[in-house]
Amino acid sequence: MKTAVFSARSYDREYLGREQGKHELVFFDTHLDTRTVRLADGFPAVCVFVNDSVDKDVVAALAAGGTRFIVLRSAGFNHVDLDAAARAGIAVARVPAYSPHAVAEHTVGLILALNRQLPRARARVREGNFSLDGLMGFDLHGKTAGLIGIGRIGLLVARILSGFGCRVLASDPYAQVPEELPLELVDSETLLAEADIVSLHCPLTPQTHHIIDASALAQMKPGVMLINTSRGGLVDTRAVIAALKTGRIGYLGLDVYEEEGDLFFEDLSNRIIADDVFARLLTFPNVLITGHQAFFTDEAMTAIARTTMANLDAFAAGRESGNEITAESVRGE
Ligand code: NAI
Repeated sequence: MKTAVFSARSYDREYLGREQGKHELVFFDTHLDTRTVRLADGFPAVCVFVNDSVDKDVVAALAAGGTRFIVLRSAGFNHVDLDAAARAGIAVARVPAYSPHAVAEHTVGLILALNRQLPRARARVREGNFSLDGLMGFDLHGKTAGLIGIGRIGLLVARILSGFGCRVLASDPYAQVPEELPLELVDSETLLAEADIVSLHCPLTPQTHHIIDASALAQMKPGVMLINTSRGGLVDTRAVIAALKTGRIGYLGLDVYEEEGDLFFEDLSNRIIADDVFARLLTFPNVLITGHQAFFTDEAMTAIARTTMANLDAFAAGRESGNEITAESVRGE
């Protein structure tokens, strides 16, 4: 199937190219948005990633250009107007799970790097500074971790942190938690009040937008560690900066950022960062940011490519892959 692949980086070309089979993939470096959507004219399918903007105007333009299928290289779908796609008769499919391990392990990587101040320690040792002043950490053993969202990724984080000897709390209005897991399902007030580490593993929806705002931060323990590897819009970044300044947040680990569409996945090292909020975050010694790389393992990229091609195979053959999504099917996710 002739497919326009947007936001294509070298690794997308490599991994999708390996699995493409009989599909004709045309790669575009640019994001899909209202300015670039004409590139998709005549393509029955488009393949998009997390910072492509598939809003109602883009959906209308895709439909006008003959597109009938949007295949996502992601599990998250907050960048796609599913109602508009349904109205336009365009089917949407995603990669529901590729490697939840990749994201869970990166989450724990951020926790350990922040707690033991590994970026600062590395910089010091490279400069011949072996002083330990300011590098004090804490044992994870015996601490309370609070996971907001206990789906595929949250459950794995729970398992790993249980292995460290943490008490694990979770809040999730829809979750079914396996009985053998040493995990307490609690309401969000209890979680925020008791957790030493709060980590976000729910999707971005209108209900979860800014789930961590000034009010949620005020309920957290002073010096709490906040980790977000899910979606930037879950966190009110300005409120987080205020909480970093007062010490309410003691450690902040982010793999995602509200306005990351203008920053992440690009080499901007020769440019001035115009986003003052992001630039302020970079000034804190207790903040560690990665550029949406939690998914980025060989295993996950292989799985994304295979499922994407299976979704295209199914659509081309007029059958369902099981990975189709509509506004109804994902309500509550
Ligand atoms: P999942 O669908 O298996 O689990 C999400 C869980 O969040 C579900 O159990 C759902 O009931 C729960 N939830 C929904 N609303 C909630 C609320 N208001 N409060 C608490 N929990 C709520 O999704 P999965 O695979 O675990 O992924 C979680 C998120 O991780 C995705 O939505 C995506 O945004 C993000 N992600 C980030 C990646 C990265 O590279 N940084 C890669 C893959 C996913």
